[in-house]
Amino acid sequence: MAVLEIKKFNNPVLRKKCEEVKEINGEIKKLIADIIETMEKNHGLGLAAPQIGILKRIIVARSDLAGFDISCLINPKIIKKSSKTEIGEEGCLSFPGLYLKIRRAKEVEVRGLDISGKEIKISASGLLARVLQHEIDHLNGILFFGRLGFFQKWKFWKKLKKLI
Ligand code: NI
Repeated sequence: MAVLEIKKFNNPVLRKKCEEVKEINGEIKKLIADIIETMEKNHGLGLAAPQIGILKRIIVARSDLAGFDISCLINPKIIKKSSKTEIGEEGCLSFPGLYLKIRRAKEVEVRGLDISGKEIKISASGLLARVLQHEIDHLNGILFFGRLGFFQKWKFWKKLKKLI
């Protein structure tokens, strides 16, 4: 296993759409182990493959998040989203030190494959629902500030301009 370099916010790879995994072979399994190790080493709650520069639909999340004992999800899809939303603070390993309050669906149902290729369905709420939505966004090239409301986005750009 290896700890990989996490791509930072200005890297165009983070804005690309990822491809489905067609076959879960040894190479993919090794990649997943590396992504998990990279997440753990960086104390993240989750990590998506494009964040290490691989454009494949793979996400991982910390296995001790409530109800999520699987730690990796391949080709994940949100199949249901609650209309109820909630605002919570989020960080992203591609944006070290930046925390934003983001509105997300309170509950989601996600379908995907586990590492053995078995189809699984996760019903998540609270922090796990938030992490899954954040990581699945990464697979579609969407970064967390893209989910800010109009006014919050304006404030975000002002803050960013001061930093660079
Ligand atoms: Ni992120």
